Amino acid sequence: MKLLLATTSEGKIREQRKSLENVGLELDIITLSELSELEPPEEPGPTFRDNAAAKALYYHRASGLATLGEDSGLVVDFLDGEPGVHSARWLGHDTTYDVKNARVVELLSEAPEAERTARYVSAVALVEHQSVVFVSEATCEGRIAHEPSGEGGFGYDPIFYYPPFGATMGELTAEQKNGVSHRGKAMASLVDFLVSRQSRQPGIDTAT
Ligand code: IMP
Repeated sequence: MKLLLATTSEGKIREQRKSLENVGLELDIITLSELSELEPPEEPGPTFRDNAAAKALYYHRASGLATLGEDSGLVVDFLDGEPGVHSARWLGHDTTYDVKNARVVELLSEAPEAERTARYVSAVALVEHQSVVFVSEATCEGRIAHEPSGEGGFGYDPIFYYPPFGATMGELTAEQKNGVSHRGKAMASLVDFLVSRQSRQPGIDTAT
């Protein structure tokens, strides 16, 4: 089965590929860089699920391929849920994550320790034959660190402290992060769906 990963984020692609490898699926993974360039789709919101489905439908219609859309973000309780679904464009799409991360830390400088809670959310949607055939959403609970730390992962990972490992996501290995992350968990549900479908319907046609 050909599967288009409908994201331009190298970080997301790396993590999604990891979730899809060595799980017994016969997949030919395609990325947007292999297609002709398209304007990014509208993200209607307000939920991660809505946006994941909108991305998958948009790129499916353009490519005719089975398409995986993902929408994710960092929800900070002390900031009333921001940046949330706006995580990528928060402070401007081209603003570096060094700047965004420093700003989140600054905005929480007066926050009581108990109010530094945050979570990552990931929604994934699979579209085939013009329809959303699978959606899953998962979260990963953590806290906003007092300062950025670690070079791993991407985006907000250096300030997302994950208590069970006593480290920021930026300090974890790719395997550690994928084992507990919002994306790793949402992708694991998708893999379960695909594996069970493959065992029931070997050779299913997932083209347009
Ligand atoms: P999207 O491409 O609109 O889904 O934007 C997702 C944004 O959320 C990313 O650009 C990051 O800013 C943030 N984000 C989502 N998942 C992660 C993660 O695993 N680590 C760090 N930042 C993340």
